[in-house]
Formats: sequence, C-alpha cells, structure tokens
Amino acid sequence: MKLLYKVPLLLTSITLAVGIASGIPLLFESRKSNSNPPEQAAISLAKALRASIEQDMIDGHPDHVKTTLAHLPGQRSFLELAVVAGDGRIAASSNQADIGQTAMDARIRYMLTSGEVSLSSESGDRSELSFVLPITLKPECIGCHSEQEKVLGAVLSRLDTSTPDTELWQKLVTRAIHGMLVSAVIGVALFLSLKKTVVNPLDRVRRYAERLASGDFTAKADIGLFDGVGTLTRGMAQNLILAQEGERRRIARELHDQVGQSLTLVLVDLATLGKTSAAADVTERVAALQSLVVDTLIDVRRLAVELRPSALDSLGLVVALRGYLLDAAERSGIPIDFQTLGPRASLAPAVETALYRIVQESVTNAIRHAKPHTISVTLEQHDNLVLARIRDDGTGFHLHRSHPSAMSMNGLGITGMRERAALLGG
Ligand SMILES: Nc1ncnc2c1ncn2[C@@H]1O[C@H](COP(=O)(O)OP(=O)(O)OP(=O)(O)O)[C@@H](O)[C@H]1O
Ligand SMILES: [Mg+2]
Repeated sequence: MKLLYKVPLLLTSITLAVGIASGIPLLFESRKSNSNPPEQAAISLAKALRASIEQDMIDGHPDHVKTTLAHLPGQRSFLELAVVAGDGRIAASSNQADIGQTAMDARIRYMLTSGEVSLSSESGDRSELSFVLPITLKPECIGCHSEQEKVLGAVLSRLDTSTPDTELWQKLVTRAIHGMLVSAVIGVALFLSLKKTVVNPLDRVRRYAERLASGDFTAKADIGLFDGVGTLTRGMAQNLILAQEGERRRIARELHDQVGQSLTLVLVDLATLGKTSAAADVTERVAALQSLVVDTLIDVRRLAVELRPSALDSLGLVVALRGYLLDAAERSGIPIDFQTLGPRASLAPAVETALYRIVQESVTNAIRHAKPHTISVTLEQHDNLVLARIRDDGTGFHLHRSHPSAMSMNGLGITGMRERAALLGG
C-alpha cells in the first residue's frame, strides 16, 4: 500500500480508537448517573409534599398545600403531585380536574389500609413511574384525628419516565456527532501536517530513489532538510558521489596501468622495428605510427587524470589543482592564475574531492561559455572554512534571470556543484 494512503488510514484508525476509548467510559458514566433520577425525583417530591402538608396541618393552615399544588410549575417529565385523603378522595392536586375525585388506583386503596410505601412503574403509551407515600398518624395529629386512624392519607407523585431517556439519547447522539466532528477535524489537521512534514518529503525521496534505480542520475536530491528524511537523502546522494568517484578512480587506474602500459610497449616495439628495417617507406610508416601512439598515450593519460587525478589521492588538493589548471590553460590557450591563501591545513578527502570537482566544473564552464581573456582561481583556507573563488572576465551570466537553463535539467554542472557543497554543509 502507498505511504500516501497508509498514513491517513493509520491516523483515522488512531483517532477513532482514541474517540471510542474515551467515549465508552463517558457513556457508562452518563448511564450510571442517569439510572436513578426518576425514582429519586418521585420519592423526594412526595416526601417534600408530605413534610409540607404535615407542617401546614400542625400550623393550622391546611390550604397552603392546595395553593402550592395549584401553582406547581409544569415540567415535561412531571405528571401529577396529589394529596389523597383517608377516604380515597383527592384533596389537592397539581391537576385541578382531579380534585374531589376518588382515587380508584388499587395501590392507593391498599396503601390507605396497610400504610405501606409503594413505588411502581408502568409502560403503556408512555412509561410512567408513580410513588405513593402514606401520611401516618403522629402524636401531634391527635386532637384533630382519632387514635384509630393509623393512616390519614397519602401523597402521590407521578412522573413520565419516557422523556428523560429520549432526552438522554438525544444528548448522547449530539455528543457523539460532536465528538466525531472534533475527531475528524483533528484527524484532517494531523494528516495535513504529517503529509507536509513527513509523507511529502518521503515521497520525494522515493521518487529520487526510483529515478536513480532506473539509471537517471540527473535526479535532484532534496538535501535541504535537517531531519531523518534529509539524512536519508544526503546519505543516498553521498553514496552516489562516492560510488561515482570510486568508479572513476578505477577506470583512471585501468586506463593508466593497462592501456597506458600497452601503448608504451607498442611504442617500444615500433622503435625497435624502425631501427631494424632499412626500407624507407617502412621507416616512414613506423614514424607516423609512433607519433599516433604518442598522441593516443597523451590523450589516455589526460583522460585518466581528468577522471581522477592520482595527485589528488597522493599529493593533495593544491598539487592536483595546479596540475589540472596548467593543463586546462595549455589546452584552451587562456591564462589561468592560481593562488592559495591562508594556512594550508589538510582537508578531509571528501572535501578535497568536492573542491577539485567544483573548480574543475567552474573552469570548464568559463572556458566553454564565457570566452574570457583570463581566469583566476583562489583557494582560501581559514579555521574551519575553505573558500574556492573562480573568476573570469568573460560574458558573465545571471544564475536565475538571464540563464534559466542554469537551473534546468539540461545543465548538470551548477546543480552538481551545489549538491556537492551542500552535502558537506556548504
Ligand atoms: N562562467 C560562465 N560564464 C558564462 N555563462 C556561464 C558560466 N558558467 C555557467 N554559465 C551558464 O550557465 C549554464 C549552466 O551551467 P551548467 O554547468 O549547469 O551546465 P552546462 O555547462 O551548460 O552543461 P554541463 O555542465 O551539464 O555539461 C550554462 O549553460 C551557461 O549558459
Ligand atoms: Mg557545465
């Protein structure tokens, strides 16, 4: 699976898992805290009304409770709160129409005789919970009531229990949607930031590796990043340069040792042949062949040096550069001035190779593109800084504006110079 799809999938799974993991305890918690409220509400309503009625009776203001019930605020879950007298008549109720009616409920009648508390729930069209609380005889009541009347009446509270569940469910659904939206936003934000910081750079490394694997060495490495991805890319680019330099070194050695030696032997044989033959035309042919072999030998040596000057490995950067610049000046006919400034400390082989290649490419560019009268190269060394300066008095060019080709894929020289310098932290 592509990295581009793997990461969002992983992020979505993580966000969902976190959402579910944190949502489940919340759900249990809300279920637990909402499991009892209707019962508790019905009981506390009935108890409060009983306490109030008892006090009113003792104080001699039995009408208080009627006024209170008449003004009881209507709530969606609240069905009725009523006071039933000992004979079963509804003496006061929050439902005005019920006042004076006889409570036909079997439980109420049973309770009026037994004095037992009763809590029951019914589910018809809607689920309902009712609580019946007896009003029992107290010493203070004797005087108004006879001692035989054990149960003076009852308090009834009825609540609609279907509503809270629906409300709870709606609340849960709203919370779930809210949570999902928040998770989605977090997921998208995470994905976008990860895409920018990890997926895209990694995808560029993948494309770079694919191009290298297909043999396209013009691929540009994204070496500006200073994280794991940058290290990976730099490592690949460095390996490529190392492999390239190693291969050049090998070919240069082969050219010098094998081809060079063979040509030298041919030259020796030709010299012997020229001496032993008396025929004028043979001597002439041998001389021509000798001159051709000498030219070829010079070309092969030059090619070997260009590929990888052995002086760079054995005598160091300055000697190798001096040799290269002398040769370049001689071949192009353009005088090249070479100066070294500052203390000459030995540099790491990778730095020497990079500097040699950069100077080589710059001088080649100057000769090829600038038509200059002179070229000057300075190599300046300070504590931990090396500066190579290559100037020519030719046509000149502007890296970005006048020569867009300088940054295009066609010219690899400048890109290669930048890459080599950047790989060494330059
Ligand atoms: N010293 C210079 N004077 C004038 N123009 C230059 C000089 N150096 C580079 N340029 C311009 O910049 C362009 C890009 O140079 P670069 O070395 O990247 O590519 P190239 O020399 O054209 O090709 P390559 O180096 O890949 O063989 C050149 O084509 C040339 O137009
Ligand atoms: Mg070039």
